[in-house]
Amino acid sequence: MVEGGQYSAPLGWDYAPLSEYNEKYRGHVTFWKFDREQGRIDQSLSFAIELPPYWQDLCDAGKLVSDGWVFCNSLNTERATGGVEKGNPPFEAGASQNDTDYLHIFNWKKAEEVFKAGKFETIKDFPVISIKTAVEEGILFLAPEPKSPHGVDVTPDGKFMVVAGKLDPHVTIYSFDKLQKAIEAKKWETDDYGIPVLPLDDVKEAQVELGLGPLHTVYDNQGYAYTSLFLDSAVARWTLGGDFADKHPEEPWTLVAKIPVQYNIGHITAAEGDTVSPDGKYVVALNKWAIDRFQNVGPLLPQNFQLIDIDNTGDNMQVIYDMPIGMGEPHYVQMIKADKLNPWEVYPEIGWDPETQSISPNAVKPGEEKVVRNGKNVEVFMTVVRSHYTPEHVEIEQGDHVIWHLTNIERAYDATHGFSIPAYNINLSLEPGEHQTVEFDADVPGVFSYYCTEFCSALHLEMTGYFLVKPSGSQASLNK
Ligand code: CUA
Repeated sequence: MVEGGQYSAPLGWDYAPLSEYNEKYRGHVTFWKFDREQGRIDQSLSFAIELPPYWQDLCDAGKLVSDGWVFCNSLNTERATGGVEKGNPPFEAGASQNDTDYLHIFNWKKAEEVFKAGKFETIKDFPVISIKTAVEEGILFLAPEPKSPHGVDVTPDGKFMVVAGKLDPHVTIYSFDKLQKAIEAKKWETDDYGIPVLPLDDVKEAQVELGLGPLHTVYDNQGYAYTSLFLDSAVARWTLGGDFADKHPEEPWTLVAKIPVQYNIGHITAAEGDTVSPDGKYVVALNKWAIDRFQNVGPLLPQNFQLIDIDNTGDNMQVIYDMPIGMGEPHYVQMIKADKLNPWEVYPEIGWDPETQSISPNAVKPGEEKVVRNGKNVEVFMTVVRSHYTPEHVEIEQGDHVIWHLTNIERAYDATHGFSIPAYNINLSLEPGEHQTVEFDADVPGVFSYYCTEFCSALHLEMTGYFLVKPSGSQASLNK
């Protein structure tokens, strides 16, 4: 997994004044090793590459012919540091003075070898390959790209990288083959940090004028690309060239159609549209503004997802559905075929901890429930099932530290229970088989009901218990 660092800063959370921006501030890209067996990131095999203090933004990995390479955009290669209050240009102006920024081109397979050979520095316990090493080892190259780009999206055959510059009405298409030839020819100038800059004319395949504010591009199975146009509030359909030229009737690298969307589309997704085998049929516009599409229920509006039928050639696209999404700014949504999903119905075994993906040592079976006191520490081992908590009374003293373990012993599909103690700001959701632990200081005396917050059965309201916190120094406490 590749993560751009976005805003530059001294690495390792160090301090340096902004006057030392060029020398002390750095960008970086982190390469996180993903362990497919465990379904987890393995930090021990992860590393970063030090970069100039340009703002490294989105990245996309190569595939097929370009497998082993990664392409990342940047903005603010001007190295603006803001400070309008001190008479400097504001960030948004300072960071968009130049006509071009830099596409960062990484040979990550080579970077991995360099990392494994120990050729890195360690910054705050994290391995970082220096700019110098990255250049010497042939890991890092730059190529100019239209100013302030956002999306970089590799075509399904892995042969082209499509960059959308949000302040430029074109998409710029780079050829992987031309990038390789330019690297082999060693024909380059260097930036201020000694990194090779490949000439744009040598690596560019085409530019297609689409409209205002192009951001992100996805693909279908007929050789079309679909780019979101933020300012135009539209989706542009255009034709790919290369091996895709035979798949559609139009000229390669041309705009074919634009469909208005409502409004201000940011990200865009197509059915398996960023894989080597897109499915076609549908595109979803992830619009950032909803404005007049839904009943006004107050100043915070939903995002508006629009489903677009693309299962026709030419300019025959149609918005067929609007869907309000109450979640802020979804990014990089994926649409995959349903038969690729094979999820659990319930957790594999009772007492499952979803974070460790194993049975929690603190899970208990029915009949083993208990409350264990050790000085001021009180541990509760509770089971949860329709429609009952065991134990039903938990009595402690003010000031105790409470570690409350809950095991949902249900095996029925969708038999989720809640557990809430509102006065202590505790609210859990326990899916069938799930184990959770909540830990807190019982600093507020009183009697608190804990209760289920999922309507789980006809006796859901009866699924409750009392948590009694005796005031410290009280008669009740002294008599104990
Ligand atoms: Cu359990 Cu409602």
